[in-house]
Amino acid sequence: MAANDNRHVIAVTDGAAMAATAAEHLLARTAANSGRVAICLTGGSSPKLLYQLLATEAYRSRIPWERVHWFIGDERFVPADDPLNNMGMAQTIFLNQCAPTANIHPIPTATADPADPDRGAALYERELQSFYGADTLDQARPLFDLVLMGVGPDGHTASLFPGDPALDENARWVVGVPRANVVPFVPRITLTLPTLASCHEMLFEVSGRDKRAILTRLFAGENLPANRAQSSGETTWLVDREALPGDFGG
Ligand code: 6PG
Repeated sequence: MAANDNRHVIAVTDGAAMAATAAEHLLARTAANSGRVAICLTGGSSPKLLYQLLATEAYRSRIPWERVHWFIGDERFVPADDPLNNMGMAQTIFLNQCAPTANIHPIPTATADPADPDRGAALYERELQSFYGADTLDQARPLFDLVLMGVGPDGHTASLFPGDPALDENARWVVGVPRANVVPFVPRITLTLPTLASCHEMLFEVSGRDKRAILTRLFAGENLPANRAQSSGETTWLVDREALPGDFGG
């Protein structure tokens, strides 16, 4: 792991243990804030077990739904009801049954020009700024209580792909990404690194044998997007036994 790394890695046995651990982090962040809570969700397959767990009565009853707001860190530029839509997946699994509609903040993808995700990015940037109450992020006052993240096979996170100019964006909060590096090959909209970093905790979930190769590179400190995504507060990586590189006990 790189010397300047402030990551805290937690090894868990399997996907179920990862979901339970992630749920406890989410509940702890919610409990730590007696006011309006902001959670930034992620897409892909990694968070699905967590979302299923949050829908169960045991967890559902512990979340103060009226004061928790749900955002998404990146979106595939497909209609809201497309199975590939990240927020659509979270809504189907738990949000629609549990959260007030006004507390669900999807990235708009039904903009006039389907070939141009920049419009959706600009709209979401305004929505985040309006929620935050300012158009400049203040390090002393993070935007999110918790940001969930995943890691792709090329080291991308959110829709920040290796070599993409979106990685170096410091002014915009949300940007359009015309080309994805991995499937699904649809344009994306992603929060930028400073926006994702503006949180009390960033929580990665990485599981499965096919993530071991990229984790080996990431833990060796390679300059890949997932290594550049760090919270201004705490950064936690939940890694299951199958994904954990040998040097780390996997
Ligand atoms: C997306 C994501 C992306 C994802 C990783 C991991 O829209 O695809 O938000 O960043 O988190 O690619 O994906 P898996 O969880 O499916 O491995």
